Amino acid sequence: MPSNFTAELFGDPELQQAPRTEQIGPQSFVLRGFALPWVERLLPALRGVLRAAPFRQMVTPGGFTMSVGLSSCGQLGWTTDRSGYRYTAIDPQSGQPWPAMPEVLHELAQAAATQAGFAGFDPDACLINHYVPGARMSLHQDKDERDYHAPIVSVSLGLPAVFQLGGDRRSDRPLRVPLLHGDVVVWGGVDRLRYHGVLPLKEGTHPLLGPQRINLTFRRAG
Ligand code: SIN
Ligand code: FE2
Repeated sequence: MPSNFTAELFGDPELQQAPRTEQIGPQSFVLRGFALPWVERLLPALRGVLRAAPFRQMVTPGGFTMSVGLSSCGQLGWTTDRSGYRYTAIDPQSGQPWPAMPEVLHELAQAAATQAGFAGFDPDACLINHYVPGARMSLHQDKDERDYHAPIVSVSLGLPAVFQLGGDRRSDRPLRVPLLHGDVVVWGGVDRLRYHGVLPLKEGTHPLLGPQRINLTFRRAG
């Protein structure tokens, strides 16, 4: 594979991957390119959200500053500080409610969930993760939601990343799944509490988003 393969892939829409579904667990799927038809409507909506609730570096209960910048939209936003992880209706930085979830985001999340076998997904929280080169997300479970019936829908935008899908125990060896701009990962049901993470982001410049990756994680939290 030529070394400029990735650049060509991003640069020429003709070469973007055709949409297809890959199964990576009993109820875990990668929907390749699924978000691409939404991107043009999605980016301006996202910019509006980020004007009201800019990315910020949060601190874990253990006192570590996360390398990934975070924001949220929807009725509930996920936050962390020295006192723990939780969902809040108010953005602690602005003192205002989190920005509403734009309709285009809700639609995309619902369509992706349906495609993966989780019809009727009605997310009330969208966590927005911001990765610059070197930023990573260590293995963790998404378990601050009230119940685990709803799946997690995770949309990748910008620079490529390597997603890790582990098992139900932290020690289970994770699968490595390369994710490109427009890919959507959905996991739920028996896979809902699987450990997952993202390896350190490689240097690069995405033609649309520049030297960054943005990940949208939709959940039913409340
Ligand atoms: C997360 O688990 O919150 C992030 C996943 C990702 O960035 O792909
Ligand atoms: Fe997560």
